[in-house]
Amino acid sequence: MTSLVMPGPAKQPPIRVVIVGAGARGNRVFAGLISREDTGFVNVGVVEPNEARRDAFRARYGIRPEHAFGSLNDFLDAPRFGDIVFICTPDVTHYAHARAVSEKGYDILLEKPIATNLPDCLALIDVQQTHRNQIFVAHVLRYSPFFQAVKEVIDSRRLGEIRAIDLQENIGHWHYAHSYVRGNWNREATSGPILLTKSSHDLDIIHWLVGGRVESVVSYGNLDYFTEANAPPGAADRCVVCPHQDTCLYSAMHFYLNDRDEWPFNVVAPPPDSVEARRKAIEEGPYGRCVWRSENNTCDDQTVLLRFSSDIHATFGLHALTAENSRSIRILFDTAELTGNLYRGTLTVSHFTGRPDEFRIEEIQLPGTSDSHGGGDLRLLRMLYEHLTTGAHADLVTSLESSLPSHVLAFLAEESRREGAVKIPVPEIFSPRAIDALGHDARLSR
Ligand SMILES: NC(=O)c1ccc[n+]([C@@H]2O[C@H](COP(=O)([O-])OP(=O)(O)OC[C@H]3O[C@@H](n4cnc5c(N)ncnc54)[C@H](O)[C@@H]3O)[C@@H](O)[C@H]2O)c1
Repeated sequence: MTSLVMPGPAKQPPIRVVIVGAGARGNRVFAGLISREDTGFVNVGVVEPNEARRDAFRARYGIRPEHAFGSLNDFLDAPRFGDIVFICTPDVTHYAHARAVSEKGYDILLEKPIATNLPDCLALIDVQQTHRNQIFVAHVLRYSPFFQAVKEVIDSRRLGEIRAIDLQENIGHWHYAHSYVRGNWNREATSGPILLTKSSHDLDIIHWLVGGRVESVVSYGNLDYFTEANAPPGAADRCVVCPHQDTCLYSAMHFYLNDRDEWPFNVVAPPPDSVEARRKAIEEGPYGRCVWRSENNTCDDQTVLLRFSSDIHATFGLHALTAENSRSIRILFDTAELTGNLYRGTLTVSHFTGRPDEFRIEEIQLPGTSDSHGGGDLRLLRMLYEHLTTGAHADLVTSLESSLPSHVLAFLAEESRREGAVKIPVPEIFSPRAIDALGHDARLSR
């Protein structure tokens, strides 16, 4: 059983990390955690085309000038100085970057999604096999104490078998407007469908919790709310000149013009960040556009139904118009119902008593966490370090093979949605066993 409170790693030589993409994830999350916490990793290099970001990263983490690069090719051409590369660049670059880095034999932590189409996801398994490196996917939720605790309840079978599971991704109205209306993930052609770019995480969690093979997928979804049809009368294209700027829920003036040095406020302007820089960014850039008149075309509400070969039905809902930015889960077992909220850190089992209105309530205690993934980011680093140095956590770590089913499900669910919610069978070649066999030879030969 994995302890929910994880100590720092045992003392071993540090593993040297090169961050590719010094944005929110590469800089603020991974490099930040590595510099502040005892993870076993050490920041030694950066690849970032934006000079101001690159310089800020260098200064912040003490990177030697010869280990900071403006392009991936320059880094790959330089003499080797790191052990593992964290790829934290935009979604559409993941495949090409992971391929190029693998060719140099580095191990990789690859931000999700693996790639933005299925052939590239599958091709990366071949790449890994050819170059005998190890590629891990940053499906951080699996490492969070919250989902670890849920998994332990399931695997212990103390509540009997799972009969149904429902996971809800409550994106939060402001988060959706920031990332999926105005931001980098607002168009399928430039990033991918939201079910892949946002929720490969969620499909991964469902698949990992339930286990076994998914036989079929159905999905409904559309972009319904953040469209021109819902713009208030007289709305301007930009908040700075809009007559509704004082009352609109999505006024960029009200949302971004503050001095909070945290995501999502501190990513709208290039460094050095300041209120003035943010004002210029919303006057001229994408984060000041009207949410009703943007270029967005990704779904703002989507439902997925998965049928496992064990007959378990799983439902997943992805919703823009929610108050909280959180995930909530409900699992029905033989003898109890489990409910939980990741953001609030609550996990409750209501044991049945056979009598109406009377349940035995069990609150599962979780350690306090501060990141948006319920502690998953830090624990990923610690568990990955232990895996790389001792081979521990082999069943948990988000290898390329074990992360692939979630991506297959996302692509098939999208196919279902686009074709009007038709039921799509999941081919046997995408069963976990078959996918694992793809990576088997590679693991044996390492
Ligand atoms: N695992 C998670 O929970 C999670 C959460 C959020 C985002 N993500 C994923 O992480 C990735 C990064 O997201 P982000 O929010 O940090 O984005 P970001 O835009 O803040 O950062 C991306 C950085 O990559 C840099 N970049 C662009 N092209 C590059 C290239 N060719 N070489 C090197 N650097 C390049 C950009 O200049 C930018 O600094 C995305 O794929 C995103 O989907 C994962």
